[in-house]
Amino acid sequence: MIIVIDGPAGSGKSSTAKEIANRLSIQFLDSGALYRAITYLWLKADKPDKAIFFENLPTVKLQAQYRDQTFFVQANGEDLTRKIRTQDVADHVSEIASHKAARKFVNEFMRNLVQKDAYIADGRDLGTAVFPDADLKFYMDASLEERSKRRFDEMKSSDSSITLKDVKENLRSRDEKDQNRKNDPLKKADDAVVIDTTGKTFEEQVREMISIIKENV
Ligand code: C5P
Repeated sequence: MIIVIDGPAGSGKSSTAKEIANRLSIQFLDSGALYRAITYLWLKADKPDKAIFFENLPTVKLQAQYRDQTFFVQANGEDLTRKIRTQDVADHVSEIASHKAARKFVNEFMRNLVQKDAYIADGRDLGTAVFPDADLKFYMDASLEERSKRRFDEMKSSDSSITLKDVKENLRSRDEKDQNRKNDPLKKADDAVVIDTTGKTFEEQVREMISIIKENV
């Protein structure tokens, strides 16, 4: 079974998907974390030529696991779980994710992973491109103001130099790149259930989505 949640940056997809995974005892898959991991590797290698970097991507050994409320990501044995949450990674991830080779690599990894268990996954193109036959599709959205405030609150404890203005600009520019890219852009699937979380509490949105899951899956 696979349930997907797509939507713009900071719309609460990951935290909601995690909570639903916990309450329904299913697995959680954070597809953005996989694009962030690739971006981290590219930055760590000092931004090599992309053609060469992508040619070598299939040799990267990616591992992902959800436990203790955390989506752990490793690449070639290095734990990247926290390292992928920096502003530098956030500033470059949409550029890396726009390349076909990056998408092919991540998509193959995810399709393979979800065969082994029941999953709820979050991303941008899961309902439209990666899992068009998903058991249930959600599209989560909220105003840019609200998304920026929430993301800023999450990041400020680990990065004291960050400002609300930086976060808002990053979300705005990532959404623009993600919506306008040629390869599998961010888009609501025709059969997705829209959840607008503006003004809703976390508990309200989780309950609403669980009741839709129980009715439909
Ligand atoms: O979900 P998160 O904000 O961590 O995703 C980081 C970036 O990864 C997005 O801005 C987008 O560029 C890319 N992404 C994607 N397709 C997905 C998930 C994430 O292109 N399914």
